[in-house]
Amino acid sequence: MRSGWYNNLSLIFGVKIRHNWFLLCFICILALVALLSSSSTSNREFDSLVPPRLPNVYTNYRKLKEQSVIDYFDLRFLTSVTNSRLKELPLCWKERENYVPCYNVSANLEIELKDGEEFDRHCELLRNEEKCLVRPPKEYKIPLRWPAGRDVIWSGNVKITKDQFLSSGSMTKRMMLLEENQIAFHNDDGLIFDGVKDYTRQLAESIGLGSDSDFLQAGVQNVLDIGCGFGSFGAHLVSLKLLPVCIAAYEVTGSQVQLALERGLPAMLGNFISRQLPYPSLSFDMVHCAQCGIDWDGKDGMFIIEVDRLLRPGGYFVLTSPVIRPQGSLLAIKKGNMLTPVEDFTQRICWSLLDQQDETFIWQKTADGHCYTTRSQGLPLCQDEHESQSYYGPLVKCISGTHSKRWMPLRNRCNGSQLTLEELEVHGKYYSIYAGVQHGEFYEEREIWKSSLRNYWSLITPLIFSDHPKRPGDEDPLPPYNMVRNVMDMNAYYGGFNAALVDGKKSAWVMNVVPVGTRNTLPLILDQGFAGVLHDWCEPFPTYPRSYDMLHASGLFSFLSLEKCSMMDLFLEMDRILRPEGWVILSDNVGAIEMARMHATQIRWEARVIDPQNGSDERILVCQKPFLRK
Ligand SMILES: *[C@@H]1O[C@H](CO)[C@@H](O)[C@H](O)[C@H]1NC(C)=O
Ligand SMILES: *[C@@H]1O[C@H](CO)[C@@H](O)[C@H](O)[C@H]1NC(C)=O
Ligand SMILES: *[C@@H]1O[C@H](CO)[C@@H](O)[C@H](O)[C@H]1NC(C)=O
Repeated sequence: MRSGWYNNLSLIFGVKIRHNWFLLCFICILALVALLSSSSTSNREFDSLVPPRLPNVYTNYRKLKEQSVIDYFDLRFLTSVTNSRLKELPLCWKERENYVPCYNVSANLEIELKDGEEFDRHCELLRNEEKCLVRPPKEYKIPLRWPAGRDVIWSGNVKITKDQFLSSGSMTKRMMLLEENQIAFHNDDGLIFDGVKDYTRQLAESIGLGSDSDFLQAGVQNVLDIGCGFGSFGAHLVSLKLLPVCIAAYEVTGSQVQLALERGLPAMLGNFISRQLPYPSLSFDMVHCAQCGIDWDGKDGMFIIEVDRLLRPGGYFVLTSPVIRPQGSLLAIKKGNMLTPVEDFTQRICWSLLDQQDETFIWQKTADGHCYTTRSQGLPLCQDEHESQSYYGPLVKCISGTHSKRWMPLRNRCNGSQLTLEELEVHGKYYSIYAGVQHGEFYEEREIWKSSLRNYWSLITPLIFSDHPKRPGDEDPLPPYNMVRNVMDMNAYYGGFNAALVDGKKSAWVMNVVPVGTRNTLPLILDQGFAGVLHDWCEPFPTYPRSYDMLHASGLFSFLSLEKCSMMDLFLEMDRILRPEGWVILSDNVGAIEMARMHATQIRWEARVIDPQNGSDERILVCQKPFLRK
């Protein structure tokens, strides 16, 4: 009975349709069903280590969509156009245009946080906030598509003024020219002699490579770029098929993270003033800091220990800084002169200084896990994995990862990011112990996502929301490969959605989020050469508004415990981080999807429920955020 209703009615609840009293009652019943079914599933998923929910495979998709449109027209007669009883949320005040929750410096100062901790993320101070939709600035324009959007952005979209830009004294300034309402970045025109290309080539030479196109061959793919300026270094690394992720502290104006994301480069807010970054140990092949503002001498070397934790064995730390020591310090070391604290510390943790060019230092982390114990002044090893990686845990004073089965030197990444079967064999032991990942399951997920992505790609077209949709048919062009650039998978499992986008040659990068409380598959995601982060979805995500073109979540809403999180807050947060005209694709069981659809309506998203009609209770919700100005 219940499933019959859904099959027939699932497609009619777009926000454009207003409901009469009959539908209102119906919605109340749905809400009840949603509450009951999702709370029971969430408990079940919390308690056991069952394999994650896999998305539906459904065939004959075009035909299905056509049938749905017919149902939709039939059912329109049932619904009279009256005012919606679901209250739509108002837009926030203008002051909230660039609102990032959890980063309120004045509130942090009030509770006497100091020594830089006032710039940290403090979600515990988040109050019961006014429920409103963060609006775009008045001059906001939809960003240009990749790759054009990498080099030209709308100046009204980022909070940076012409004066700020002109007064910034950085080296990269010369790469940025202001043209009317656009900011253009010129990386590749070769006009700048001492530009990013030369810098990168120099780095490659310092680690013994012929050119910067050899980085992948040397195993350098995942790069953590601390403080990315205007993103020029990151943009160049992307052109070399590397994956740089920019992190920087929250900045009220001229934010580096906002700028990078606007250009379609991976970035998120993050610092390690007092707490670890939300990445597991042994995650990055290179950590890069060019005048990134961190006092590496400070805190008894805790910052350097955090970098050591994040680096893979044999990984590189690049520090470009005018303050570390006058030129010729290599010579000074050889003469046995006093070492700076940084140099002293890197020796204690078994890093070797590979090269120094002008103000740029390059160290390599040891690939030999025994080295640490042989140093007389060495640091203790962390006793267990939990000590060395927890969600925003305190900085530790011990060496991480030496006991890990992932303690493996950098590997050749020439064949792209996908793990081969052999590589998975090597990693297999670790993953099956740590995250319960099985080979078969991993490859099955891959295949399922490949076909799901093809279906999703035909869904992300405004056609689906039109009141008078053209009959979908084979002649409809599919959205172009560069329809979306910044994608977030809110519940990434093994990164299969990311792998499908790569496989389908879409021009997207994915922030793979592994929710706290699910199996920690993040190491597997990072080892595939993808970007990822641990995150608790009961808290806001550390990014600026309007960061992502697409949010994807499979099985997330039936997982999240209703008692702990407010679903409305989560939807508001999704709305905040989504660009106007951005897409949301959720797949889950009927109850969770119906609940999601109601929230989507309240925050004014265009929303459609799709029933794959294969007899399961799986549903897909496709939403588009409208471009609201007033
Ligand atoms: C529908 O798809 C899901 C996911 O692949 C699958 O588990 C389920 O068995 C399918 N149902 C039917 C009736 O084929
Ligand atoms: C930041 O905190 C201060 C002091 O607690 C408060 O008055 C202000 O409204 C907060 N700002 C935001 C944007 O929440
Ligand atoms: C890369 O792929 C080629 C051909 O597919 C293969 O011969 C080669 O061994 C691979 N290299 C690595 C490092 O996996």
